Amino acid sequence: MIIQTLSTFPHMYDSVMGESMMKRAQENGIISFEAFDLRDWTYDRHRTTDDYPYGGGAGLVMKCEPVFEAVEDILGFGGASEGGQQRLDGNSARVIFLTPSGRTFDDSYACELAQSSRLLFVCGHYEGMDERVYTLATDMVSLGDYVLTSGELASMVIIDAVVRKLPGVLGAENGADDESFAHGLLEYPQYTRPADFRGMEVPAVLLSGHHANIETWRRQMSLKRTAELRPDLIQQAYDCGDLSSNDILYLKSLSAEP
Ligand code: ADE
Repeated sequence: MIIQTLSTFPHMYDSVMGESMMKRAQENGIISFEAFDLRDWTYDRHRTTDDYPYGGGAGLVMKCEPVFEAVEDILGFGGASEGGQQRLDGNSARVIFLTPSGRTFDDSYACELAQSSRLLFVCGHYEGMDERVYTLATDMVSLGDYVLTSGELASMVIIDAVVRKLPGVLGAENGADDESFAHGLLEYPQYTRPADFRGMEVPAVLLSGHHANIETWRRQMSLKRTAELRPDLIQQAYDCGDLSSNDILYLKSLSAEP
């Protein structure tokens, strides 16, 4: 997968992309990563990427010319401007703008992006971007209902969540398949040695070596934790037909508890 970013602070990616899993994914050829500097598409002495908003108001707005030129250069389609969406036809890249008014990012969105061969993240700063840049977008994504100072941070979260879904990134022993949200539920509790720490004991079933019982216990803990912390996800799993009759019986037994 090719992952590229376009922003005014490309060095913000150095630490996140230069360590641990993200670094290894690049070394193993699973992803290639490149952070572009938007200022490379400016032509004035101050390398200006923002300007005062038409109509007045506080703050500065990111200019559209550098963003258009950069995206066109990076994706390799220059020439006449006829509207971004049209020019993106036939190009498999997802051009992702980070904005609080975008579609909220979640696990299924991460899975969707993980199917793509190329992601280009366009990150804003200041008060926002000239509205016309969004004609270049295939995706507008928000991390949630809060405002960050920079789209770079948001894109790093998304890159991390997407890359760890790619085959070979996590390794067989800790695949992304079993974890929270992968099957619409929160993850069951995990333990490692010692079996007794300050009187807090690991549940006996996990020490039993009885694989079927361990599976049942894990499924039930996952259901219990999700029902307690995220009842909305239980409803969603039910609506999607992801709950077995045993799951439903177990959930009923929980609500019958005093
Ligand atoms: N940029 C600023 N705030 C953001 C958010 N909540 N999600 C994505 N990009 C952002």
